[in-house]
Amino acid sequence: MPADRILIVDDEEAIREIVHSMLTISGFRCQQAASGAEALALLESGEEFELILTDLMMGGMDGIALLERTKEKYPDVPVVMVTAVHDISVALAAIRNGAYDYLLKPFEREQLLAIVRRALENRRLKTENRAYQMNLESLVAARTAQLETEKKKVDQTLSQLEQSYDITLEALGDALDLKDAETEGHSKRVTAYTIAMARAMGLPGEQIRVIGRGAFLHDIGKMAIPDSILRKPGPLTPDEMAIMKEHCYRGYQMLRKIPFLTEACEIVYSHQEFYDGTGYPRKLKGAEIPLGSRIFALADTLDAIMSDRPYRAAQPFSAGRDEIVKWSGRQFDPEVVKVFLTIPESIWHDLRKEIDSQVYRYPYTSKLARTTANS
Ligand SMILES: [Fe+2]
Repeated sequence: MPADRILIVDDEEAIREIVHSMLTISGFRCQQAASGAEALALLESGEEFELILTDLMMGGMDGIALLERTKEKYPDVPVVMVTAVHDISVALAAIRNGAYDYLLKPFEREQLLAIVRRALENRRLKTENRAYQMNLESLVAARTAQLETEKKKVDQTLSQLEQSYDITLEALGDALDLKDAETEGHSKRVTAYTIAMARAMGLPGEQIRVIGRGAFLHDIGKMAIPDSILRKPGPLTPDEMAIMKEHCYRGYQMLRKIPFLTEACEIVYSHQEFYDGTGYPRKLKGAEIPLGSRIFALADTLDAIMSDRPYRAAQPFSAGRDEIVKWSGRQFDPEVVKVFLTIPESIWHDLRKEIDSQVYRYPYTSKLARTTANS
């Protein structure tokens, strides 16, 4: 390790020489300055020191003034004041002002070395501590950056996972379509209608995604209904009707264990409830029915009326709208009906056209739900 460098400042040459030799013998490298101004000039010339040992009383710039000038520019260099006993109050003031310590004249070599070593040790600890802190800060910064990268990766994976969930839902929906060929594209259209209304209501994107999934899967419980009932051409007997009505709970049971469908499955469970409490299966009323189900109810009716049925042709939008207005407050939530009536008719036609042209072209849920919910 290179020897510490000490700047000795004193206007008495004899004292400078004594201090110089005492320190040099002990292995320090020393330079001398005969005044505060000379010391400052040395520092400003780029000379570096680990310690300044300065006389307090000097002509011109004294020790206090030198301390003032160095503490801001060279805060890491400790300053030790050398002073006579009668100047001790000034020396104490210097310490308050930032000097490391003071040394009373006359002094023994051991006293000088002790104070010098203490000052240097103190400086070393401060420097090390600061380096440690800086290192710690850069470690924290590096770790934070690393965590952010990890988080981005996790977010990406989650979004991919969600996408593949949606593709799975698509497959589930297709499976149901094969079993219950009610009207082609019905699930996709009611989902698009439901999402359009949820958007018009100003719901947040995440809630719209949940509602969209609920709408898409609303009849998934029909997978559990025997074909003899599901595909029966004529009217159902009361017993068959009771079994048919189980599809809400069956769908709920199928989906509730899937973590990202826990909210959507409530919509599935409640999609046949009526606002006035006369629906099924739980006869929920008003706000007891999840908002998504209350929105879905309108979408379902609108699509049913505007679609061909084996026993009648598709009816115009106005028939669907009139039916919804007629049943407002009974089957439908009047607040949702209000929002529905603010949506221009062309939207429903456009959505229908769009879905019908895409039914077998690309997966509904992963693309449409995302773009519709986010836009
Ligand atoms: Fe249903």
